[in-house]
Amino acid sequence: MTADRLLLDLDDAQRPLIEALIKRALEFKRGVADASVRLKGKIVVGMFFEASTRTATSFAQATHKLGGTWHDFHPESSSLGKGETLEDTMRTIQAIGADALVVRHSESGFPHALARHFSAAILNAGDGWHAHPTQGLLDAMTLVEEFGTLDGRRLVISGDIRHSRVARSSARAAHLLGAHVTLCAPPLLLPPTSPGWGFAELSTDLDACLPRADAVMLLRIQKERADGAELPPAEDLMEGYGIDDARVGRMAPQAIIMHPGPVNRGVEISGALMDDPRSRIERQVENGVYVRMAALERCLRAAAAVGAR
Ligand code: CP
Repeated sequence: MTADRLLLDLDDAQRPLIEALIKRALEFKRGVADASVRLKGKIVVGMFFEASTRTATSFAQATHKLGGTWHDFHPESSSLGKGETLEDTMRTIQAIGADALVVRHSESGFPHALARHFSAAILNAGDGWHAHPTQGLLDAMTLVEEFGTLDGRRLVISGDIRHSRVARSSARAAHLLGAHVTLCAPPLLLPPTSPGWGFAELSTDLDACLPRADAVMLLRIQKERADGAELPPAEDLMEGYGIDDARVGRMAPQAIIMHPGPVNRGVEISGALMDDPRSRIERQVENGVYVRMAALERCLRAAAAVGAR
């Protein structure tokens, strides 16, 4: 993140920022903070170049709860198809009066490039393999709700780590709050050796990781980001890195199951376990609304302060 009006990733984020956003999200969730006029008169434009159910809908709902106006920008039916450049599209959206942009794109770094053409708030709703910061925050919020503090807690993330922007942001947020993070995947789906993952432990053996885990987060295979690379068959993922009735018995009784969605039932997790008392999958979705309220409030307040100078 380079400015408070931007929430582009958690790469350089520090613990106080994560804690402040989660604290605010919890205030909104508990009804302690009056939300209804925080974005009064503000326009938030959702610009989703990739499919989304949870993120797009919860950003829209967060805007609504804060008293702002949400507009969906549909790239496929926009004037981009008539040859308008992205830069001119951004100038147009800004001239219409947008105060914030929520953007998802398959290209890593796309929202960062947009920030050069757009002076208002920008929130990254997922860019390529790189980052999904509000998902990282909502996952951390779900863990904080469960455990209070994450200091000393153990989070295991299992599945396609290599192509996952969720893994990057969620692992980083949990680590910043004090959790020990293990990334578990077959060798093909472990992250490449690169800076940024040094804080996490890597494993290819989920069964060895499970008994000590406080939370296990499953990830689907991100076929759309594999770019032709070899991927393990789905049945191999379930056998080695998914959670089913047999494997859940290796978890501690109080440990929880998470998944950012969308879920491929029977591939990362058996359908029955989606409704298991240990599953927090719907709680994650619910918390997404409150985390996005906190993020929108922060970024729009900062953008307004810059505009007022
Ligand atoms: N977790 C997540 O980003 O879900 P959507 O793709 O449905 O937004």
